[in-house]
Parts: sequence; C-alpha cells; structure tokens
Amino acid sequence: MIYDREEQIKFLFFSGDDMKKQYSSFLIGAASAGHQVEGNNIYSDTWAQEYMKTGGYKEKSLDAADHYHTYREDMKKMHDAGLNAYRFSFEWARIEPQKGVFHEEEMLHYIDMVHACREYELEPVITLLHFVCPKWLISEGGWESDKTPDFFARYVKYVCDHLKDENIKWIVTINEANMGTLIAGYIEKIMKHTDGAGLQIGMDLASMAEREKETREENIAVFGCPEANVFTSPRSAHGDEIVRKAHRAAVKMIHETLPGTKAGISLSVRDLHYTEGGKENADKDWEKDFLHYLPDMQEDDFFGLQTYTRAVFDENGELDPAEGAEVTQMGYEYYPECAGNVIRRVHESFKKEIMITENGIATDDDQRRCDYIRTALKGVYDCIDDGIPVRGYMYWSMIDNYEWQSGYSMKFGLMSLNRETQEHTPKPSLAFLGSYTHMEEE
Ligand code: BGC
Repeated sequence: MIYDREEQIKFLFFSGDDMKKQYSSFLIGAASAGHQVEGNNIYSDTWAQEYMKTGGYKEKSLDAADHYHTYREDMKKMHDAGLNAYRFSFEWARIEPQKGVFHEEEMLHYIDMVHACREYELEPVITLLHFVCPKWLISEGGWESDKTPDFFARYVKYVCDHLKDENIKWIVTINEANMGTLIAGYIEKIMKHTDGAGLQIGMDLASMAEREKETREENIAVFGCPEANVFTSPRSAHGDEIVRKAHRAAVKMIHETLPGTKAGISLSVRDLHYTEGGKENADKDWEKDFLHYLPDMQEDDFFGLQTYTRAVFDENGELDPAEGAEVTQMGYEYYPECAGNVIRRVHESFKKEIMITENGIATDDDQRRCDYIRTALKGVYDCIDDGIPVRGYMYWSMIDNYEWQSGYSMKFGLMSLNRETQEHTPKPSLAFLGSYTHMEEE
C-alpha cells in the first residue's frame, strides 16, 4: 500500500516538525552529464580526442544516448518512476563553440530542458562544467592557463543571464574539481591494477605515456599546442589553483546574477579507512581530496558530494580491495556505506547544506543496484536524522552511458540503452529509487 507521502514520511521516520520539513523537500533524482548522453558534441575537446590516435579513447561517443533529442521522454520516465529531481549538465562547447561566439539556440535548448523538468516535476540541478570543454579552450592552454578562469566566468555570465527567469535553485559550478589531481595520484594505482585499462574515468594512461612523442605531435596538429591540458589531464599545482579560481569566479557570478540560486562545487571523495599504521596516509588523502578545497568553498551555499566506494590505507599507502571483496565493473569495492560515512566526515568541517550529486554502481545486476541504493540511502537518512542538512541524492546515472575512455562498457544506468534502436528502457532500479519519494510500505 502506498501512503500519502507526508503520512508515510511521518510514519517511517519522524519525530518533529522540522525533521518532517527536511524529508518532504528531499530531492531524489538521477544524474547525467551532457557529453556522456547527448551525442555529437562536436566542438568539444573530448570529441576531438576521441578521434585522435593518441587521445586514449577506445570508443567514440557518437550519438551516445541521443539525449539531446530524447530529454522529454527520458524525463517522463523519471517522473513516472517517482523521481523528483534531475541533475544534468550544460555543454560549454555547444554554447560557445568558437571563442567569444555564443550560440543562442543552444542556450535555448538547455532552457527548454529546464522547462521540461518543470513539466515533469523534476527539480533541475544544473552543472555548468562536467569535464568537457570547447576545443578552442585547450588551444588557449586549457586548465593550465591563467586565461581560463576569465573564459569560464564569461561563459558562466552568459548562462546566468539567460537563467534569470527560470527560478533555478541548484547550480554545481564544476564537476569533480579535484579530478586532475586525483588522476595524477591514481596513475600508479591504475597501472598496477588494470594494466593501464583504467579506473574511475577509465583512462588508458599506460599507452598514453608510452606514446608521449606521438601525442605531442598529434596535439599540435589537433589543438595547435603540444600539451592538451583538458580537465581530466593530470594537474599541476598551478592548474589546481586555476580550477579553484574558476570555481570562485563562477560562484560570484551566480550570486550576482541569480540571487535565489544556491551555488556549490562538486568533489570526488571516497570513504577513507585504515588499518594499523595507516591513519596518516588516510588523513593525507582526505586533505588532498577535500580539506584542500575548503577555503574555496567559503562563499558556496552547498557542497556536491560524489562518492562511489571506500579506500583502505596501511602505513605504505592504499591497499587493494581485500581478497574475496565484491568489486564493481569499475574495479573498485562495492561499498554503498560510503554515502552516509562521507557525509558525516564532510559535515565535520563544512556546516552548510550537502547534496549527494553522484553515487552509484556499474553492474549488470540490477538487483545489486537496488541493494546499493537501499544501503546508500539508509546512510543518508540516518545523517538527516542526526541533523545533518542533506538536501538530495542524485544517483549516477540516469541511463547507461559513455563512460569516457571506457566507452559504453560500464552499466551505471537506471535505464538501459539499446545503441542500435536508441531505445531507453527503465530498469527496475528506476522505480525502486523513485519509491523513496512516496515511501512504499515494505
Ligand atoms: C563522473 C562521471 C562518471 C562517474 C562514473 C564521476 O567521476 O562525474 O562523469 O561517469 O564518476 O565513473
């Protein structure tokens, strides 16, 4: 039996009125990123790299899930399953395909996505930059160039000016702002675990390093410069400062232009555990992945938390998943408890609102996906019960999609994608996730 949502919430969880308010506005949604689902993002750096011999991509994104055309149908499916939010990204390369040349019709496309969200009662959570950039930005030096924060701020201003009448509540400035430094740190581990096949965003780093000379030559041919400093390139300390500056500029712009909108950064953070002697290494990781960015989050209204798994450290560094531990298609440990645990850790030093902007599992076993979601959400609701201001949970991902250098092999989706027919079929996990907005009786 399905209770009236308010009644059900009261029945399952509540004690007080404040708490009731928190649950009833809690966002349950799915997440996607433009390049991974839209298809044909032809003016982007990633599209260019997909066609390069040395780009590191095994497969091309091509039509992806054709979400550029199917967003209304996809949103209807999310709505029908019970979801009340959708996190998606705008593609800078579509909006500003040439330096300083803005394409109004592409901006209107994204505004129509916002309108479609309203039609289907999905609260839009917008990401301004999800890794992918216009190709021209890389020719200008990309994420190691001092010019990039200004270029980004100009794009953000253009977008915000167009969003003035849209009553947007949530904007993520930069997805996983720590990705470049994470990549640098993961290289050794990637080599060891996957023979260069990749981890997290599936970079084929082994072969990329071997082919350095060839890469430089091809970069010159494609981007006009020997280094392609894309967002997911291993990042220097200077590049890291550039990303942080770009974020701060975007928050300022959002606050100036859209007074009712909450702005936040997203970071990829794992649940950090340690065995005897490993605390120092685990703490170092937390410092690098999270604490380091705190000064840049002073003006933010919320934090976009992205977490998929845990990492265990000993005195020598990070350990492999234990013998016999369940691992996901991505090669990391099945550990849905990360959601609640990392929220608690973040809340120790960041007292404002938190939204889980990504959490999910790559698997062919949809029942296991439901188990993952159930455990993750249990952890999230426990945090809310303890008074931590968690405002939403966006499962990654809305549909099986283009998992960067791993191509279409990873199955994160709440819907499956038939690439021949472009059929988008809800998996049982979509309705399972949606059931949390009306809390079916168990
Ligand atoms: C990224 C997504 C990616 C997901 C799964 C996150 O790092 O934001 O683009 O597909 O993890 O690997």
